Amino acid sequence: MKLENKNILLGVAGGIAAYKSLELVRLLTKQNAVVNVVMTEHAEKFIGRMSFQALSGNPVLADTFDLVSGVEIKHIALPDDASIAVIAPATANIIGKIAHGIADDLLTTMMLAMTKPVLLAPSMNVHMYDNRVVQDNIARLRQLGYHFIEPNEGWLACGYEGKGRLAEPDQIVDEIELLLTRKDFQGKRVLVSAGPTREYLDPIRFISNPSSGKMGYAIARAARMRGADVTLVSGKVNIKPPYGVHYVEVESAHQMFEQVNASFRKTDCIIMSSAVSDFTPSSTSPQKIKKTADHLDISLERTRDILSSVSKGKGDRIIVGFAAETENVEQYAREKLRQKNMDMIVANNVTEKNSGFEADTNKVIIIGRDGTTEDFPLMRKTDLADVILDRIASLFARS
Ligand SMILES: Cc1cc2nc3c(=O)[nH]c(=O)nc-3n(C[C@H](O)[C@H](O)[C@H](O)COP(=O)(O)O)c2cc1C
Repeated sequence: MKLENKNILLGVAGGIAAYKSLELVRLLTKQNAVVNVVMTEHAEKFIGRMSFQALSGNPVLADTFDLVSGVEIKHIALPDDASIAVIAPATANIIGKIAHGIADDLLTTMMLAMTKPVLLAPSMNVHMYDNRVVQDNIARLRQLGYHFIEPNEGWLACGYEGKGRLAEPDQIVDEIELLLTRKDFQGKRVLVSAGPTREYLDPIRFISNPSSGKMGYAIARAARMRGADVTLVSGKVNIKPPYGVHYVEVESAHQMFEQVNASFRKTDCIIMSSAVSDFTPSSTSPQKIKKTADHLDISLERTRDILSSVSKGKGDRIIVGFAAETENVEQYAREKLRQKNMDMIVANNVTEKNSGFEADTNKVIIIGRDGTTEDFPLMRKTDLADVILDRIASLFARS
């Protein structure tokens, strides 16, 4: 968990979206982050301290002059200890005050003492957000190195529609993680393929596999966190694409082939974690196939091999493949690595419990082009994503 033991100072200002910050605290503490909440006086008109206190497990701070306990001045000590400060929701008022160095309450005073990254999540009525004064304050703060997560568009609590909704709590968590992650993939363009393909027999039936996309999505998210410019080409899955990646959805092996090949030349590294069908029906019925006969023979033909195709134009690019096998895992993986001119292959036995398709965990062997083989214990796919990226980072460092 990336945010484990990270000290997060969460400022809550007096906006209608203050209640959403409770969910933010829950998501952060779920990752074992240490959250200290500071509320403005006006925030307490919208929501009480008790809920923040219960969810964060820490006392909520609000009064500047309550702070001196013993020799510790908390409006200095808390910012010193924090890895990052986040203000969600950030009102037009607090943005204006921070932009002009006003320190008339605990939160704004702390912001002047803060030397670590500060992330503001504005939320307000669309006209307030569009107001030149607010926009000038945001621009001024951005120039000074403050970070913003833009509000979303949609229906606003004030009855208006437009830009002004607080970014979703999971989006804010992503942004926090992004700001706190080392950027060893900065400037690298990474293409990830994920999920299953569908080969249609008729308009409503298809041949597919149980790939959930979890492994590829975890890699795409982790690569983005580490600074990469990520393109994710994905078959249809039931999970949300990570924020901040270029997302391309496909259905068939043919579409996957086309889209991967279209992006491939503009990337430095390709990680093929999708489960692409090796065969497709020789013809697709334009109408639903009726159950008129006792038997139905389906003729299948080979799909085009994506890895073989990209490996022909490999150049300096790093190619990483996956091998999902049910037997002789290491042997088949070694053959695939060699045949397809890959730099690294991640192999797993998909029949093993809690590993492979659909699971949140995976147990893999990683084999390098130089023959090095690493056998990993069962681990979360989110952690494995970073293990794979660590190996790719070393390959980049060597090239
Ligand atoms: C019902 C209600 C909802 C409000 N919602 C917002 C809001 O979403 N965003 C905002 O910037 N101000 C909002 N305000 C105005 C702020 O509460 C007001 O500017 C206040 O001074 C902000 O104080 P603070 O920034 O110190 O918390 C709202 C006011 C009321 C009465």
